[in-house]
Amino acid sequence: MNILVIGSGGREHTFCWKLSQSTHCKNLFAAPGNAGTAKIATNLDIAVTDFEKIKTAVLQNQIDLVIVGPEAPLVAGIHDYFLQDERLKNIPVIGPQKAAANLEGSKEFAKEFMSRHQIPTARYASFTKQTIEAGCRFLETMYPPYVLKADGLAAGKGVLIIQDLKEAQSALREMLVEKKFGAASAKVVVEEFLSGIELSCFVLTDGTSGLILPMAKDYKRIGEGDTGLNTGGMGAISPVPFADEIFTKKIHDRIVAPTLQGLKKDQLPYKGFIFIGLINVNGDPYVIEYNVRMGDPETEAVLPRITNDWGVLMMATAQGTLHEHQIAIDPRAATTIMAVSGGYPEAYEKGKIINGLAAVEDAVVFHAGTRLEGNQVVSDGGRVLAVTALGDNMDLALKKAYQEIEKISFDKMYYRKDLGKDLL
Ligand code: AMP
Ligand code: GLY
Repeated sequence: MNILVIGSGGREHTFCWKLSQSTHCKNLFAAPGNAGTAKIATNLDIAVTDFEKIKTAVLQNQIDLVIVGPEAPLVAGIHDYFLQDERLKNIPVIGPQKAAANLEGSKEFAKEFMSRHQIPTARYASFTKQTIEAGCRFLETMYPPYVLKADGLAAGKGVLIIQDLKEAQSALREMLVEKKFGAASAKVVVEEFLSGIELSCFVLTDGTSGLILPMAKDYKRIGEGDTGLNTGGMGAISPVPFADEIFTKKIHDRIVAPTLQGLKKDQLPYKGFIFIGLINVNGDPYVIEYNVRMGDPETEAVLPRITNDWGVLMMATAQGTLHEHQIAIDPRAATTIMAVSGGYPEAYEKGKIINGLAAVEDAVVFHAGTRLEGNQVVSDGGRVLAVTALGDNMDLALKKAYQEIEKISFDKMYYRKDLGKDLL
């Protein structure tokens, strides 16, 4: 079949890499893709939310299956767009419809879903401009630090964690009245702070049954020792050493199963990935957030550990036959290190020539933000490359990934050198 992957990051390059090994993949396309996908797929110069152009490309290239990488097109309703179009409605889309994509698109919707289905999460209340005084009083009933979340999508920046009560109250005003995060903060979720170590759980569901993919942990802060600004993710490891059998069973019983049942009960059709951001509070898992897609860079560490034919799993998801499949996992550990542009996540330069890619032997390099200038690969984003290595244990995988990333260079390249150290 002909497959289109929507997106341009490391996650989408990894999807393409995995699909290019599938016996069911004839022609592979990426929109818009990057210099990495260009090697194994045909890049189509189309923005991820330009549904009209996507439609034209799907028809022109006789696409049989569409896999959506990022959240923006899902929250904007790309799946619904396909279902409502006479010529597209029979072409399966991997990624939920708009109603369920709200699990990521609205924090309040996600919290209401969790309380309706008794899924463990932080205590919360949500407020608007009209209820701001109640919000300030609610904060007085909580203990510091205070967690304030813009309801809508805010490019990963909409969460504030504040120590001081007065500061939290004025931040609430800024968000609601001054629209600190634009329309995304017209509503704010205030919630209890949970203390623990975070991990990511991924479920592939066809709307009826679900397969749990290998868990992963990502490294969100720019600086070593988890310091400095938040980023999209500076690296990932899989499996997660502390997610043992008992903890994994708790995740399944208390979170994954009720999430899948909740989607059915609420009549929210869902074919795609559910990314459950979890926190381990003294051995008990709580949900921090839902995302309606795979994680990035977690995908770069998770997919290389899955030995199934990815095309088969995607088709089974589309056809509702996932119950006939099991996830086959390579027992080795995978570690992914992200090479970023100097200055990221603040201002950075693009267009830097990337050297050394051909010298990498014992790792896979997934492109995150690159493009081709003639035959030359140059940087084209904050996160530039994700280098993934496999090893018999996390330590060995990390050694290999660090050894291989050293062969790559571009002006002002930066990566964290402390991945995995928090878990030893
Ligand atoms: P979110 O966008 O909801 O994933 O929040 C971004 C980050 O803020 C999370 O990855 C956590 O590190 C942190 N965070 C969010 N909610 C909480 C909470 N209730 N308690 C502690 N940390 C949180
Ligand atoms: N790595 C976190 C995310 O994809 O949201």
